[in-house]
Amino acid sequence: MSGPLPEALPEGLPGGLLSEIDHVAIAVKDLEAAVDFYAKAFGAAVVHRERVDSDGVEEALIAVADSYIQLLTPTRADSPVGRYLERTGEGLHHVGYRVTDCAAVLDVLKDLGCRLIDEVPRPGSRGTTVAFVHPKAAFGTLIELVEE
Ligand code: CO
Repeated sequence: MSGPLPEALPEGLPGGLLSEIDHVAIAVKDLEAAVDFYAKAFGAAVVHRERVDSDGVEEALIAVADSYIQLLTPTRADSPVGRYLERTGEGLHHVGYRVTDCAAVLDVLKDLGCRLIDEVPRPGSRGTTVAFVHPKAAFGTLIELVEE
């Protein structure tokens, strides 16, 4: 985006509405094998595990400073992550950007005419509120807005 920022955007913050990288999500076929790799290769331990049945995924979170690596595996083949693995194979699935107000960021994106996966915020893992932005609207990257 070029030109002056809309007045609603906070000034003086280098990331604008994005306060942190919340997580980098990696789709894997075998969650235990991926957890084991991060433990052996980097000494990195899982700080949170959660099964999110509405999304058909199980996740293991590894903390890196104030962000996470989110290892994701499908709990059913027809879930979005299941279809992604089938289509693309293992690898980077999405990036989670931490925001203070998920709904407010969605409003900005709607005003810009961005294609969204979630028109309204919904519950995510860890008790967060989230919304996904379509990769076609964001240079090929599936974006998750994460409000803690
Ligand atoms: Co995520």
